[in-house]
Amino acid sequence: LWVFFVESVCEDPEVIAENIVQVKLGSPDYTNCNTEEAMEDFKKRIKCYENSYETLDEVLDRHLSYIKIMDVGRRYLVNQVQDHIQSRIVYYLMNIHITPRSIYLCRHGESDLNVKGCIGGDSGLSPRGKEFAKYLRQFIQSQEISDLKVWTSQMKRTIQTAEAVSVPYEQWKALNEIDAGVCEEMMYEEIQQHYPLEFAMRDQDKYRYRYPKGESYEDLVQRLEPVIMELERQENVLVICHQAVMRCLLAYFLDKTAEELPYLKCPLHTVLKLTPVAYGCKVESIYLNVDAVNTHRERPENVEVSRMAEEALLTVPAHQ
Ligand code: F6P
Repeated sequence: LWVFFVESVCEDPEVIAENIVQVKLGSPDYTNCNTEEAMEDFKKRIKCYENSYETLDEVLDRHLSYIKIMDVGRRYLVNQVQDHIQSRIVYYLMNIHITPRSIYLCRHGESDLNVKGCIGGDSGLSPRGKEFAKYLRQFIQSQEISDLKVWTSQMKRTIQTAEAVSVPYEQWKALNEIDAGVCEEMMYEEIQQHYPLEFAMRDQDKYRYRYPKGESYEDLVQRLEPVIMELERQENVLVICHQAVMRCLLAYFLDKTAEELPYLKCPLHTVLKLTPVAYGCKVESIYLNVDAVNTHRERPENVEVSRMAEEALLTVPAHQ
């Protein structure tokens, strides 16, 4: 078992002051204090900590594996990286930042296949989808975002949405919607009819279930890793993506479990504005007031699922 130490040393007075305001003022210790009193008190507390604090020492600790981060990324000291996971930790810590910014997540405007109730495919926007794209443009303008990057998938419906926003955008194949394999362009009811076992298995473990010749949410999370890393590096970004993809991105930023992830609510025509704050993300949900179909399918009751799975198993020939 390898131990890897992560030390973050911050002596930048501005960052310390900001951290006290953002994180410490809300603590029960300071409920009856004003900002200045709390600030003074906490600075004294830091002085006390300093008496017993032991920093990683370049010479004495040369045999240890560690990264020491100075002033939130102004400088790094990396020592004895032993394996893949440690190098990934180093890579991650060297790419995150605390510059204030927001990440805007939304799906494409309603598509023709959404209207038909079919999943997947590569259709264009419905009239309401086009309407949403226009409102998205106005919304983005109203936000007056400095240096906004816009990312789409390589699917028609996200590209058409970005075109209407009329800003330069970058296409990512990794942002394409989950590949439903043999079930692409089918309605949930059709899947249930044609592939009852598959349908029931997906309900039993939606995160791990992989469509025949397609993907699972677990696959999707892996595929999105480079996107997530780049989102960490960037500042203001608008990501125009898809239901399953948006769930994965949202789960990452809101720290949701694999259980919760495939059921997160990401309705059409709604922008989620994520603003990183200390220990989490502030979320604002902005519905742009253009009707759309509901594409969310609720998690069925457990009893129901196992009954369906059993029935499906009984009706499927043994060799399957
Ligand atoms: O229905 C729209 C859609 O984006 C499909 O293309 C996709 O298969 C589906 O949502 C993903 O949602 P769920 O995992 O709930 O089926």
